[in-house]
Order: sequence, then structure tokens, then C-alpha cells
Amino acid sequence: MGNESLKKLIGLQKGELVGVQIYRQLAKIANDPQITQKLLQISNEEYAHSQALQKLTKTVVKGNGVIGKMMGVMKALLGMKKVLEMTAKGQFDTAQKYEALVDQFPTLAAVAQQEKAHGNLLEQLAQK
Ligand SMILES: [Fe+2]
Repeated sequence: MGNESLKKLIGLQKGELVGVQIYRQLAKIANDPQITQKLLQISNEEYAHSQALQKLTKTVVKGNGVIGKMMGVMKALLGMKKVLEMTAKGQFDTAQKYEALVDQFPTLAAVAQQEKAHGNLLEQLAQK
């Protein structure tokens, strides 16, 4: 694998770990148990994505310890609905990044699909 590809994948791998933290934290502060349960499920799937990327990069990375903790502030400032809508958009953006890499790394097709499913689910949860 070229250096550029490796850098891209490591960036995505970090993003997945940040996602794990974001969804875990949102699950904690959600007021609806069904939303909490879905967010925990998404968080677990983001962790699986980070593992899928680790297989490709053969590199162990760390997430960012700060972003997850900001979710309480985001919720207070914007409201949960808006935060969920923003995370949905983030999922669709991430899906596109993976789709651009599928030719080179076919295992990422499943990850791209799941990111889109997360986006759809988060949009639904935002409407609750
Ligand atoms: Fe993911």
C-alpha cells in the first residue's frame, strides 16, 4: 500500500474511534432509552469499523479524548435533534470517503454501506 493510502486509512481509523466516543457519550446523555440503545449499537459498529481498518493498516491508533466529552455542550447549545442531524450528515460524508476507496480496498464497501445506514437511522432518531 502506498504512503498516501495508508495515511488516508489511518485518518479514517482515528475517525472511527472518535465516532465510538461520540456515540457512547450521546447514548449517555440521550433522554430516550430507545435512542440510547440505538446509539450504543452505532458506537459498537464504529468500533468494528476501526478494527476492519486496523486489519488494513496493521497500525494501532488512538482516538481523540476530547471530542466525545464535547457532546454535552453540543446538546446544551443546539439540542439533541440538531446534534443527531449533524452526526447523520457526518455519516453520509464518511460513507462517501469509503466509497472512494472501495476499488482499492473492497472490504470497505460493507463499511460504506453501514455508514449510510447509520446516517439514515440517525435522521430517524432526530425526528423522534
Ligand atoms: Fe464507521
